[in-house]
Amino acid sequence: MKVQTLIQKAKEARLNSYSPYSNFKVGAALLTSKGKIYTGTNVENVSLGLSICAERAAIFKAITDSEKNFLALAIVADTFKLISPCGACRQVMAEFNKNLKIIMANLKGEKKIVSLAKLLPLSFENKEMF
Ligand code: THU
Repeated sequence: MKVQTLIQKAKEARLNSYSPYSNFKVGAALLTSKGKIYTGTNVENVSLGLSICAERAAIFKAITDSEKNFLALAIVADTFKLISPCGACRQVMAEFNKNLKIIMANLKGEKKIVSLAKLLPLSFENKEMF
């Protein structure tokens, strides 16, 4: 699967962003091991804490479809610097693949690929509870 295809899907999803409070549109596209792509966008709420990021929207959509094996996730926003996923989203990603490939991109055509392991070292793990 081409990185560029994922970025394009994330760009398209970004256009559906519901972000009247921040006016900051984000799109995400998640690639599964079966080659399927799940997109997501940020959905805000007047009760601001209820807003959800594009990354988690895409992941939850995939889980609803019983997909749990993720290879890569593209994130696109109209930013000068590349957008990096928030801490909450990183922990949700780590639940499914600690080495998930994160593709950060902007509308200027810039991109950078990093492993989730680099973005979230020492993530919280279930076994640490016992
Ligand atoms: N947002 C995302 O969707 N993904 C990120 O990686 C960072 C932030 C959203 C949340 C909120 O709707 C808006 O961007 C501003 O923070």
